[in-house]
Amino acid sequence: MNYIKNKLFIDKFSVDKIIKKFGTPSYCYSYDELKKNVLNFKKNFNKINPLICFSVKSNNNIKILNELSKFGLGADVVSKGELLAALKAKINPNKIVFSGVGKTYDEIDFAIKNKILLINTESLSEILSILKIAKKKQKRVNIGLRLNPNVDAKTIKEITTGKISNKFGLTETEVIKIINQYKKSKYLNIKCLSVHIGSQITNHVPYLKMLKALQNVIDKSKFYFEYIDVGGGMGINYNNSRQILNYKKYSDKISKFVKKNKVKIIFEPGRSIIGNTGYLLAKIIYIKDTTKIRFIIIDAGMNDLMRPALYKAYHRIIPTKKNRNKIFKLHDFVGPICETTDKFLTVKSYQKLKEGDNLVILDVGAYGKVLSSNYNLRENSKEVLIKKSKIFQIKKRQKIEDIIQ
Ligand SMILES: Cc1ncc(COP(=O)(O)O)c(C=O)c1O
Repeated sequence: MNYIKNKLFIDKFSVDKIIKKFGTPSYCYSYDELKKNVLNFKKNFNKINPLICFSVKSNNNIKILNELSKFGLGADVVSKGELLAALKAKINPNKIVFSGVGKTYDEIDFAIKNKILLINTESLSEILSILKIAKKKQKRVNIGLRLNPNVDAKTIKEITTGKISNKFGLTETEVIKIINQYKKSKYLNIKCLSVHIGSQITNHVPYLKMLKALQNVIDKSKFYFEYIDVGGGMGINYNNSRQILNYKKYSDKISKFVKKNKVKIIFEPGRSIIGNTGYLLAKIIYIKDTTKIRFIIIDAGMNDLMRPALYKAYHRIIPTKKNRNKIFKLHDFVGPICETTDKFLTVKSYQKLKEGDNLVILDVGAYGKVLSSNYNLRENSKEVLIKKSKIFQIKKRQKIEDIIQ
């Protein structure tokens, strides 16, 4: 993304032209950025040749998943729907892992039928469910045990998952007990120890603590895990001034861990692969000046992008046409939804804008479209992908008539 003569371009496409053709609000993704992220991720961990299972919860567009499968990525899914999406996108079942605390009988049955690599279990009750289904099918099912390492990921509290107060995973004691009970099971094949401590992690220290917790389980249980699934969580740079993760320190530590334990590593990244590849294109409907605040009312709402309302996530908003006329007044960029939390950003000053101007909300590729809803009975936005000098629609805009049927 860059400005040429004050006009915004994404991969050589004028954003105003994209908007003219596809309308607003629309999500636009860059294939070039996606490719760059995948290659960077692989490079950062090239010493250990990991299996990279893209976290489908961060973005479940079939076309995007299909592009990722062409780069050799697998998938981390958390529902039957996501598993279906991954299979439809031609992701190899042998590269799919299934996480989540509440897998139903039907979901477990479907996962077994499709011969996925691993079901990462999160409770004894879930293990008993799998055991029952496996017995019925007379099959040995590959499972992982998700450890709750009680590590603070030092990220937003709503997206922390590795503390004992979080609902995820099993304690070290529970993991060891389960191993002792089921290591010789005819129906359960414990292949993996998994963990995921949270999202938007920008400090490598929690990861080092997490590796220590994994090592403790390996040492205490004296059990050989073929796979160690270290989850995802790598943070991205939503704000240029914020620190991003020190991959080198994380990668060096993982390499040592692999050497010591002779295991294969699985990663489940979402945000770090797709986050900065997505742009939400919107149009200013009205500008409402009050004595203190200039409200920029755009046609994208919290139903299109939930993250700011949900956990005050920060996303930059930039104009498609730059000018030098700055207005020094508080600006609130808000959507049309009847909720006060339908607000994307507040800034102290901004360039002069007018009704009808186009704006772009940045870094919305992860947890953007997937969290969208029909709240206020608004149709979901369109999705387009720029790939190799072409632009494709990869998801139609919903029709109101279809929603209210
Ligand atoms: C189990 C699991 N794996 C992977 C991820 C992906 O995390 P991220 O998008 O931060 O890489 C998540 C998201 O919270 C998750 O819950």
